[in-house]
Amino acid sequence: MINLGVLISGRGSNLQAIIDACEKGEIPAKVAVVISDNPEAYGLTRAKKHKIATRLFEKNKFEDKNTYELEIVKTLEEHKVDLVCLAGYMRIVGPALLSSYQGKMMNIHPALLPSFPGLNVQKAALNYGVKVSGATVHFVDDDCDTGPIIAQAAVPVLENDTEETLSARILEQEHKIYPQAIKLFAQGRLKIEGRRVKIK
Ligand code: GRF
Repeated sequence: MINLGVLISGRGSNLQAIIDACEKGEIPAKVAVVISDNPEAYGLTRAKKHKIATRLFEKNKFEDKNTYELEIVKTLEEHKVDLVCLAGYMRIVGPALLSSYQGKMMNIHPALLPSFPGLNVQKAALNYGVKVSGATVHFVDDDCDTGPIIAQAAVPVLENDTEETLSARILEQEHKIYPQAIKLFAQGRLKIEGRRVKIK
């Protein structure tokens, strides 16, 4: 059984999918702590409903990003976190946090990377005119949305799609592949070899 630390900034539907998978015994893991940089994040309410420890760290209350991230690391260590899951955490992870969890930090992204990194990517995919989009779970490295890919799921882009309908179709897949990727990690079945993640 491994301990997860989930970092959020908002709605927390991926957090919910992870909590549910843990509680159903689908993955050998437990959410030990949920950390938010936003006091309004609904994910905090979700965590509290499941009696999971929550912490709020507001970046502007710290001297700099390094100090902010070192406090997060301290909390993750206090909760003996084995894997950090970014789930709608709207900040680029800096060296203070990354160096402590290299190869032990995942992110979920609502596009088929390396296409459409960054923000508002469902809209970008629609505007570009792609016929297929999807979701990606990847390890976090020192750039934005560039780390080794663990899992992906594709969805069609339909003729009448709006940003909302496409986002909803992708989100459904996010909620499946994120718990699956965590399960593989918890089972010790993921091995990073350069850019590739081998599944044992
Ligand atoms: C998801 O689309 C995720 O892929 C992206 O941010 C969104 C977070 O949604 N990184 P939620 O907070 O998990 O509902």
